[in-house]
Amino acid sequence: MIDRGKLKSALAKESDRFIEEHPKSNEQYRKSREHLLGGVPMAWMKRWPGAFPIFARSATGAKITDIDGRQYVDFALGDTGAMTGHAPVYLAEAIVEQSKIAITTMMPSEDSIEVAKALTERFGLNKWQFALSATDANRFALRLARFVTRRRQILVFDWCYHGTVDETLVTLDDSGRVIPRLGNSTSAFDPAQTTKVVQFNDLPALEEALRTEDVAAVLCEPALTNIGIVLPDDGFHGKLRELCTKYGTLLIIDETHTICVGPGGYGRQYDLKPDMLTIGKPIGGGIPSAAFGMTEEVAIQLEEMVNEDSIDVSGIGGTLGANAFSSRATLATLNNSLSKEHFDVSIPLAKDWADGVRRVINSYNLDWSVQNLGSRSEYWFCPAPKNGREAAQAMDPELERYFHLYALNRSILLTPFHNMALFSHYHSSADVERHTEVFKETVESIL
Ligand SMILES: Cc1ncc(COP(=O)(O)O)c(C=O)c1O
Repeated sequence: MIDRGKLKSALAKESDRFIEEHPKSNEQYRKSREHLLGGVPMAWMKRWPGAFPIFARSATGAKITDIDGRQYVDFALGDTGAMTGHAPVYLAEAIVEQSKIAITTMMPSEDSIEVAKALTERFGLNKWQFALSATDANRFALRLARFVTRRRQILVFDWCYHGTVDETLVTLDDSGRVIPRLGNSTSAFDPAQTTKVVQFNDLPALEEALRTEDVAAVLCEPALTNIGIVLPDDGFHGKLRELCTKYGTLLIIDETHTICVGPGGYGRQYDLKPDMLTIGKPIGGGIPSAAFGMTEEVAIQLEEMVNEDSIDVSGIGGTLGANAFSSRATLATLNNSLSKEHFDVSIPLAKDWADGVRRVINSYNLDWSVQNLGSRSEYWFCPAPKNGREAAQAMDPELERYFHLYALNRSILLTPFHNMALFSHYHSSADVERHTEVFKETVESIL
């Protein structure tokens, strides 16, 4: 139904409008090319839909203002790092005060005990260690899983994303071989040596892969959120848990994004019973902080390793990890945010957003779909995919770019990597209604 000719010229028009309306960002981008590789401090910051990235001046609550003075409703929320809302007051106060007392010492702070206790109350696992990014939490959890099981292989689901962990940046080619994801072509090793990959929701393939009893851990998000939202089939998680136990494989749940389901994440809500759990991004309210937790049973097996003198070169750690500043930010966040009261606001908004998009899709008889997972929702230009492969095949970069740019030019930011909106308790029904209106206009402009 999409008129591709119309789409091309509409995209060109929106691109011109973007350039015209962002002279200061354009100027900064030109300057930044002198000393920043590719003109950006992190390469993926180019993944916004305009000809150059917009430079932010301030971000509070659910709003971002750029250096051209334009204000946006932010449905990206730093791809979850700012799920608490930007710069909440309790956090600003806590970190200002902490920065005058201690920032980093390489000693435990009393806050770290409170953080671990708060994490246990939320997620149910007994013992915790800290890191500064979800990437590192995953890297460390995988190492520990290998130590406990004395096995080398890990298993992930196709098109997962767990951060820049080489052995998880993998996919299956058409013949079912494990290969590095496009973009990870510089991997130092052949990931087929370290990683098994199966399709999400494919229980027979999962059992086939675990049956050989050489897999240390399954690392998974409870629902895929990084190739769009792909939900688990009914019964998938019960069987996944059962198979991991049967074949002696540890189950590591990455709740970094799926904490959008509630204060204890998807695992607590649906009683997934992981052996280990990883989380980063929002738990420090945007200040670098991450954690990985484990059951008492796993902890007992690691106690001896942690007491080794050589632990500093075990591949787990980092001198800035668990620093006093991050620990205070995490404690302030866990005590004041990501709470039931906040989710009671953000989850209904995400559902309303999905309903609004669905109404537009249905009114034009498009074969598109919309998914909801707690406080995040996502639309697809196809029926809802069942696994990562179907999801990846359904990507339509040109159409996606147009929808993102059309929204951005009307003061709405979507998460850059796919068509996702994430909600905080700072968002409002007016934000949702405005998005529905803009989405409708976008569709109408290319039919
Ligand atoms: C599920 C999941 N885990 C881990 C990560 C890595 O987080 P970070 O880039 O903050 O290390 C991401 C990042 O998008 C993620 O989506």
